[in-house]
Amino acid sequence: ARIAILISGRGSNMAALLYAAKDPNCPYEVVLVGSNVPDAEGLKLAAAEGIATLAHSHKGLSREAHDDIMHQAISESGAEYVVLAGYMRILSDGFVGKWPGRMLNIHPSLLPKYKGLDTYQRALDAGDDRAGCSVHLVTPELDDGPVLGQTEVAIVAGDNADSLAERILIAEHQLYPSILSSYVTLEADPEWILGQVRERAL
Ligand code: GRF
Repeated sequence: ARIAILISGRGSNMAALLYAAKDPNCPYEVVLVGSNVPDAEGLKLAAAEGIATLAHSHKGLSREAHDDIMHQAISESGAEYVVLAGYMRILSDGFVGKWPGRMLNIHPSLLPKYKGLDTYQRALDAGDDRAGCSVHLVTPELDDGPVLGQTEVAIVAGDNADSLAERILIAEHQLYPSILSSYVTLEADPEWILGQVRERAL
């Protein structure tokens, strides 16, 4: 399967996805890395790995206009899946609707807990004994789509948001390539996907 990855920053999940794709048995290949932040660290890394990149700032554009530019580039790349990896933009319903069951995201919490930002501190403040990360399908509601896989990470005494984030990131780097690989090969029970898509009015 051909995938496009969207990033806004350092791109460590993107790197994990790229490196996993070097395994000859990996069922996906990365055909494009796109970003709304032209100097995103991850873009340099992708380019050095010989991956096509697209940088287009959202500044001065409406959400829809920027999403259209990204969508066009992704379509032209031949990508079949859009993989969000630290893409810090809320996507328009129009964009999301163009990739039903074909757009994934990774989020640093055990969804449905702690959608949005500040997930680590919120888990600590709640006194949780575990946190973690989730890979989910993207639907118009933020961080709300069907969860495809999760990794739990124990919270240890003395943890703060930074130490927790660092450990969850290790789990993210393993979870994302693994879930993406199963998802693109599963022939992911089309009935199930369609059911989810209908239920959430994607
Ligand atoms: C990760 O923690 C991811 O879960 C969240 O944003 C962060 C991106 O980090 N959505 P990176 O750019 O992949 O290093």
